[in-house]
Amino acid sequence: MKPTRRQFLKLAGLGAGALALGGCGVFSRETLPSPSRAGGTGSIREYAFEAAPMDFELDGRVFPTWGYDGGVPGPGLRIPEGDTLRVRLKNGLPADTTIHWHGLPIVNEMDGVPNVTQPPIARGEKFVYEFAVPTSGSYIYHSHVGLQLDRGLYGPLIVEPRNEDLAYDREYLLMLDDWLDGANGTPEDALQGLRATGDGMGGGMMGGGGMGGMGGESGLVEYPLYLVNGRTPENPEVLEVRRGEYVRLRVMNPASSTVFRFAVAGHRLTVTHADGLPVEHVEVDALRVGMGERYDVLVAADNPGVWQVAATPEERSGMARALLRYGGSGASSPPPAGGRPRELDGRLLTYGDLRNAAGESFPEGGVLSGPDRTHELTLSGGMGAYAWAIDGQLYPEAEPLEVREGEWVRFVMRNRSMMWHPMHLHGHFFQVENGTGRGPFKDTVLVEPHMGELAFDFVADNPGQWFFHCHNAYHMEAGMARVISYTGARDERSGRESG
Ligand code: C2O
Ligand code: CU
Repeated sequence: MKPTRRQFLKLAGLGAGALALGGCGVFSRETLPSPSRAGGTGSIREYAFEAAPMDFELDGRVFPTWGYDGGVPGPGLRIPEGDTLRVRLKNGLPADTTIHWHGLPIVNEMDGVPNVTQPPIARGEKFVYEFAVPTSGSYIYHSHVGLQLDRGLYGPLIVEPRNEDLAYDREYLLMLDDWLDGANGTPEDALQGLRATGDGMGGGMMGGGGMGGMGGESGLVEYPLYLVNGRTPENPEVLEVRRGEYVRLRVMNPASSTVFRFAVAGHRLTVTHADGLPVEHVEVDALRVGMGERYDVLVAADNPGVWQVAATPEERSGMARALLRYGGSGASSPPPAGGRPRELDGRLLTYGDLRNAAGESFPEGGVLSGPDRTHELTLSGGMGAYAWAIDGQLYPEAEPLEVREGEWVRFVMRNRSMMWHPMHLHGHFFQVENGTGRGPFKDTVLVEPHMGELAFDFVADNPGQWFFHCHNAYHMEAGMARVISYTGARDERSGRESG
């Protein structure tokens, strides 16, 4: 029997509160209340912190920057799924700010996008963010104003499942970052520099004028440091383990313009979650983690010693690291800071490897007639200026992308530039079209340079005005963003409801 439209929406519906994880692994929008709208369990977890200028100390050097409560990363937030998160934010910055809860499909007015979901919080003002967290997993919170993400204004948000079905002995968070603030001027200075070099955007238009002059280095922000959890390779965080344990690593990339490749020397990685949501386990040597992406992996601690936990920027030199150290191996000396584990060049995870753990098939053409609406979007650089466009338009002077509530929407993205674009959709999970029909549900995907093409599908089930943009902070600032605008309910006359 062919699935009806209603059954399809049950499978695909992953928006606010539509996701039932754990025990049964069934997706259903009918059986679950929508926590983000209904208020969840009612239990409230409250945090209060301040965004303010701070001195960030790294190995005896002091970098003036902006952070949350004086730390980089900011305070670790943890909350059980379904509970209500309340964060009282004080803006002690000499600028406007907001916080975005990256990856969580929450109510629109708490999403933290300045001038789209809220007026920016002025200097000296306070704002209370409060929403029910709809689904468990590894998330990031960060400022969504200008280039503030490229300062220290980010932190981890871990949502615990009601029933943990993954067995492990301990866990560590690993936040990967590229750092320039206070060392190479400010992020705003870096953007000025990019603008001053005109169209040297390291990957403008392809075809037509040819590719001459598009040097790989031009258009790239220079980072003197790469960090894991706010630590340099010379003074790394040490992850203590014992032989025989299973260790869960939550690998998150809040960097502003660095795609990292991640591996643990001497160990393989079993990928269990992508962007917070469970996937069928797959074993690899290395991950590519785009800006805004998260992967949870299990590492079987079966190879005693002191090992490099390495993150190297793609196509650039440099490295960030932590150390994995077995109890009782205090005598063995740590690997040198620059030591590059060979696992980085081993089996690399691809989107094609990932299957959502719910075992749900996205109906293919022929079963259903296809999405209600498709947006085909070209990603490209500007001509003669540092600019990054979606379909030739630069935000904020760009048209919204329209959807209607209830629609099955497909985005097809084509990269006509020489740079990676980690495209991030607010307010919804989408399913990556990876040719398996069982692609992972994610909120951020890397569209590869050199004519990379990628499609995803989502159900428009969380009304509001939602941001969709490249998670390279400089590309976003230079125009690579759109508002997804809900314009009304799906046209029921289309006849797809029958069946
Ligand atoms: Cu993590 Cu719109 O961003
Ligand atoms: Cu981009």
